Amino acid sequence: MKRIKAIYPGSFDPPTNGHLDLIERGSKIFDELVVAILRNPEKDPLFSVADRRKMLEAMTSGFDNVSVDTFEGLTVDYALRVEATTILRGIRAISDYEYELQMALMNRKLQPGLETVFMMPAEKYSYLSSRLVREVAQLGGSIACLVPELVEQKLREKIDVAHKFDNGEPAAGKTPSEGKSKSRKKKS
Ligand code: PNS
Repeated sequence: MKRIKAIYPGSFDPPTNGHLDLIERGSKIFDELVVAILRNPEKDPLFSVADRRKMLEAMTSGFDNVSVDTFEGLTVDYALRVEATTILRGIRAISDYEYELQMALMNRKLQPGLETVFMMPAEKYSYLSSRLVREVAQLGGSIACLVPELVEQKLREKIDVAHKFDNGEPAAGKTPSEGKSKSRKKKS
């Protein structure tokens, strides 16, 4: 019988309950699902790839057919390398559609054998994005119920370190410049 292996590529900075919802849905329709974190040297993420990987591994440990990996370069090249035939992406609202359609069609142009499958997360996550989670957390708002507890804890740790530096108080094991680099207020 034909087995379907899919990849779910993204930045996951940080992973949210919306991502987890999509992973759960994907795990039910694909035989194998690889959550693939893009290693993008041009971006200045809040969390390192290693941190994001650890968080996603913990979040997905209950799914037998889900694994976590990282990749650099084109998503389609990565998909071919791991012998996946499908790319899973989430669409939360109509505003996501244009960008996702563009990406799916470009990926199809690059690699006609790969299909993109769109799934919708639960409505309660339709407004949720990693960017907003970072922003709300950095400005002191509650992110409970938007991210798993371990992600919330990691975010709080990051923000506490940044605030200590903002107050001129060096955090243990860090130089002031490291602290400043984590105190950005907003990232796209
Ligand atoms: O979570 P994101 O940031 O919306 O994920 C975007 C991602 C990683 C799926 C996209 O930027 C991507 O596929 N990047 C890898 C480079 C690539 O393949 N670019 C061409 C896409 S058409």
